[in-house]
Amino acid sequence: MITVIGSINMDIVCQTDVFPKQGETVLGNLFETVPGGKGANQAVAATRLGSKVKMVGAVGQDSFGPALIEILTNENMDVSSVQVAPTSTGIANILLFEQDNRIIVVPGANTYVTPQLVDKNEQAIKTSNLVVMQLEIPVETIEHTLKLCKKHGVPVLLNPAPARNFKPEWMEDITYLTPNETECELIFHEQIETSLQAYPNKLIVTLGDEGAMYHDGEKIVKVAGFRTTAVDTTGAGDTFNGAFAHKICEGAEVKEAVQFANAAASLSVEKFGAQGGMPASEPAEERMREAQS
Ligand code: RIB
Ligand code: NA
Repeated sequence: MITVIGSINMDIVCQTDVFPKQGETVLGNLFETVPGGKGANQAVAATRLGSKVKMVGAVGQDSFGPALIEILTNENMDVSSVQVAPTSTGIANILLFEQDNRIIVVPGANTYVTPQLVDKNEQAIKTSNLVVMQLEIPVETIEHTLKLCKKHGVPVLLNPAPARNFKPEWMEDITYLTPNETECELIFHEQIETSLQAYPNKLIVTLGDEGAMYHDGEKIVKVAGFRTTAVDTTGAGDTFNGAFAHKICEGAEVKEAVQFANAAASLSVEKFGAQGGMPASEPAEERMREAQS
């Protein structure tokens, strides 16, 4: 079982061809509300691939809260530890502009993912094969969970996104850290190669559609990504993380898990929305096979 401790957001997405300047109003093309949040996204990615996932998180007391709980329930994950907090649900204001996205996250209920909530789930954490976190929940919760996982010998995957409040001393208690290039430089203040060398088989740097790289103890390994036509890259990193977690729990080595995660992420960007396009296991395996043949 994988326990994901993280954010649940409603993504409020506007697609536009013209990006507004300060004080300017422009007309956009499309508006949608779709489920998101890095925690929920990674949980959905792993669940669709066949992992048993428990989500520890919080939604608010508005209409988004029950809607999101229903969506996650329909994905067949365990939402019994998703709390309803006396505030608004976390939202992400997403602007899709050209091939890019710009996101403002307002955490809302995600600030209620506290060390106390984690402690209530100690039994589940203890029996997990892997605990997965991101940085959209309070920093004290991250630190507390790292200690708890260490106590019980449970491996931890931390996706340090968005890159804020990261403490390098956490590396000792982290099994896998998965920043993108920007996040990696923000966290370690060093060249990426130097950081990779310092944390072999632990630091995996994602490179968008270029794939990902890590150090295998002897050398830096670059695992190529899959070229595809992207409709919406929101949540590609989350798909990578959920798929990586899934494969690692199946007993795969880092290299195979990264290849699989690249394949899953490339499928996810072919559909609109963070969770739209997250594949089941078979299409992801098939994409991997296509690349190898
Ligand atoms: O990683 C993508 C996610 O980041 C979006 O779903 C949005 O909710 C933000 O948390
Ligand atoms: Na998508």
